[in-house]
Amino acid sequence: MATKKTSLTKHPLKILFVSSEVEGFAKTGGLADVAKSLPAALKKMGHDVRIVMPFYQTINGKDNAVAILSTELFVEPQPFAVSYQVMQLDESNVPVYALDAPQYYDRPELYAENNQAYADNGERFSFLSAASLDLCEKLGFQPDVIHCNDWHTGLIPFLLKTRYAQSDFFAKSKSVITIHNAVFKGVFNYDQYSLIPELIQRRYINAEMDPSHISMLKAGVAYADKVNAVSPNYASELLTHLGSHGMEADFQNRAKDLYGIINGCDYDDWNPETDAYIKQKFKANKVSLARGKKACRRDLQKQVNLPELDVPVYGMVCRLTEQKGLHYLIPVLEDFLLNDVQVVIVGTGDPTLASALRDISEQHSDKFAFVETYSNPLAHCVEAGVDFFMMPSEFEPCGLNQMYSLAYGTLPIVRGVGGLKDTVIDYDQTPLVATGFIYDAPTPEALLIKLQRSLLLYCQRPQEFKRLQQNAMACKFNWAESAEQYLDMYLGGEQSLVNEICNDKVDA
Ligand code: GLC
Repeated sequence: MATKKTSLTKHPLKILFVSSEVEGFAKTGGLADVAKSLPAALKKMGHDVRIVMPFYQTINGKDNAVAILSTELFVEPQPFAVSYQVMQLDESNVPVYALDAPQYYDRPELYAENNQAYADNGERFSFLSAASLDLCEKLGFQPDVIHCNDWHTGLIPFLLKTRYAQSDFFAKSKSVITIHNAVFKGVFNYDQYSLIPELIQRRYINAEMDPSHISMLKAGVAYADKVNAVSPNYASELLTHLGSHGMEADFQNRAKDLYGIINGCDYDDWNPETDAYIKQKFKANKVSLARGKKACRRDLQKQVNLPELDVPVYGMVCRLTEQKGLHYLIPVLEDFLLNDVQVVIVGTGDPTLASALRDISEQHSDKFAFVETYSNPLAHCVEAGVDFFMMPSEFEPCGLNQMYSLAYGTLPIVRGVGGLKDTVIDYDQTPLVATGFIYDAPTPEALLIKLQRSLLLYCQRPQEFKRLQQNAMACKFNWAESAEQYLDMYLGGEQSLVNEICNDKVDA
């Protein structure tokens, strides 16, 4: 192992990181956070990392983007080509190459409008895959590792092993696909794959859902050299029917190359000592924490129109989807509100869930605030101002909010799934080192019991509650450590893909 790392430091890797969203430029979820932080951490370790993403209409920093390539993607043997430009965005951190192809990305949203996915998403994201490889050759960037993320990039590993199988340029390039959420499989009819004729010609069975549909995620999992999930527990869930959303055979086939690497938390953005969004910054020491939490709670209550009372406050910030488990909370929320508590939920999404939450907030406006918005500043104020953060997720590949909560001395109450189980320590199991609460059963009742349990702790054992806050704030999920594990995946293990890269470089 030591020799491998030595060869690595002598030979920084060239890494192409492809993602459909990147925090700071375009974001709908946690994928964007990872796509900002992981490349930055790898760059800090001395590697040459470039990010590729679409040049969306709404992308931040559009005005300062510089065109570094104007070209066409030729699709042989089709009689057509797609013109595109590579726009380089702010280079202060990792260079970001944004693909400007207006027919695909010049739209108000990233994936969907009014909860309706764009009808040509299959073509839009097969373009992302195909153009990411096309631009490497044209810009002369010869990657050792092409790091793909979720279904949007799943055709890259397939193209490397088909279109580019004989290419000298990519002869040593290996691919990795990170699974952030296997529920989204990127399933499209063959009609949408006109840019990827190899798929149509080969009718590649491992990626077929049925005789007329191909899943881009399945293609990625089947063809990537390595596959990883965003937490060790999610990696093991992917081997099961329930946990993989029906893709267990695909992941079982790749079990030898399947890794689980927990995401890091970006403590430059999420740090109560430096957070510019919160009313009063605070440290982990008891006095500073108590004062800071109180000021932040008052400020949050003011912002969401709740009475400024000294009662325990429970929060949740999420997309309103089934994944986040709102259907477990809604049936017991009114029961829980019978207690002397306040609850704040911030998020947008499913109209049915939103209307149920709106109804409850109208009935209990003195105790429950539902803010139907997506707001990063408000998310910071919730993390800082509440005492408990609820994540009753149906499934949760990694989850980031529980990490943010821990950093702000806010105790997470989570269901024991995916990365939640890897990052929170349950008070009822191991009280001494506990950082929050975990429960298992996917039922509203099980959630309610845990909520009541946390309230008892808060009200009856305040010193114990404060001790848990200290434990929570001492937890660290540093990106540097996760990036080391990614590197080990690129470089480590007997069948390791970059074992080969390293050996090649040492030989060279
Ligand atoms: C997805 C998952 C979430 C994970 C994030 C980043 O949004 O649902 O659990 O934290 O990706 O990997």
